[in-house]
Amino acid sequence: MFTIENQVSGKIFQTDGTDSILDDALIHGLNFPYGCQKGSCGKCKATIIEGEVGYEGEIPSGITPEEVADGMALLCQCRAKSDISLVVAELDSVADIEVRTLPCKVEKIKRLNHDVIQVFLKIPGSESLQYLAGQYIDLIHPDFDPRAFSIANAPTNTSLIELHVRLVEGGKFTHFVFNELEEKSLLRIEGPKGDFFFREDSKKPVILVAGGTGFGPIKAIIEHAIANKLNRQIYLYWGVRDEVDFYMDLPSQWANDYDNIHFIPVLSEPNDEWQGRTGFVHESVLNDFDDLTGYEVYACGPPKMVKSAADTFINQGMIKDNFFADAFVFAYTGNNNE
Ligand SMILES: Cc1cc2nc3c(=O)[nH]c(=O)nc-3n(C[C@H](O)[C@H](O)[C@H](O)COP(=O)(O)OP(=O)(O)OC[C@H]3O[C@@H](n4cnc5c(N)ncnc54)[C@H](O)[C@@H]3O)c2cc1C
Ligand code: FES
Repeated sequence: MFTIENQVSGKIFQTDGTDSILDDALIHGLNFPYGCQKGSCGKCKATIIEGEVGYEGEIPSGITPEEVADGMALLCQCRAKSDISLVVAELDSVADIEVRTLPCKVEKIKRLNHDVIQVFLKIPGSESLQYLAGQYIDLIHPDFDPRAFSIANAPTNTSLIELHVRLVEGGKFTHFVFNELEEKSLLRIEGPKGDFFFREDSKKPVILVAGGTGFGPIKAIIEHAIANKLNRQIYLYWGVRDEVDFYMDLPSQWANDYDNIHFIPVLSEPNDEWQGRTGFVHESVLNDFDDLTGYEVYACGPPKMVKSAADTFINQGMIKDNFFADAFVFAYTGNNNE
């Protein structure tokens, strides 16, 4: 095993030298920049300060012999041959990431409960979408206006994008997804979009508030924090109507497996057997934290929930700059029918 250290962020990860340095960095939750992943665009270029890298075959076209002589390397193509200390500017802002339109194939569709479906989209070839945990994409189908859905998996470069889609009453596109969309269908995506993403430079404890499928991007954030071995305290509040609306068991598993992750499920319309928290999800946060000054808050889900959280948390000390949110507003604005 070799140790790779990015001198810019101080982050460290291990590689056995089988996969490219970029692949291993992404799997360990480091947002190293990349583009083509074929060795031609040069976006994954880094300076090797110490240690040795090797390429399989010729030096790729995305780097010049002079750059190689100066100690630079294309991380998507090279493998570690020793411990390495390198310099690369990790992405920490959406401005660093290009919004792209890409074709994708519906790889898998899985019904998670009565009104949520999990859709996996695969980007063909060796392309993959670079994004920050928490961001969303627009799904593009020729028969509909684009519809926004958050990416529910952490940004490793598996080229698979996971979405959690809730069926909307009277909703044209979500009815199409539930009743007509088939595996192997072709769609397009545009993204990544939005400024709802996990701020990694902070050391503050984190409160995550999810309403319904607002859990999707929150899942991406937690998976990313786990991959990154971040040990900030994480309090996840997931609010749904009734117990059947919890469409995944992952939060309980995380809370069992990691001391720093705490899960508080909340029901707004509980059945008689429910022993846990009840009411609106933001109210549980207010009950548990008298003073929100020292916390970073991420809220995602129905617009009403996000607004209630924003309005009331401020009164309990939350600093505005420490509040990040994505409200799942509908594309329908009153003047389209698609
Ligand atoms: C940033 C962002 C991220 C999102 N992420 C997710 C996610 O991860 N998961 C998820 O489930 N959702 C997510 N959403 C919400 C999702 O985009 C919507 O649920 C989806 O666009 C609904 O599409 P639809 O075609 O089914 O509904 P629409 O057909 O657009 O209908 C929406 C609502 O408007 C009403 N309506 C539509 N047309 C008319 C009309 N002509 N007259 C009167 N009423 C009408 C419908 O009855 C319905 O109540 C997100 C939204 C945003 C903005
Ligand atoms: S990502 Fe394009 S050269 Fe490495």
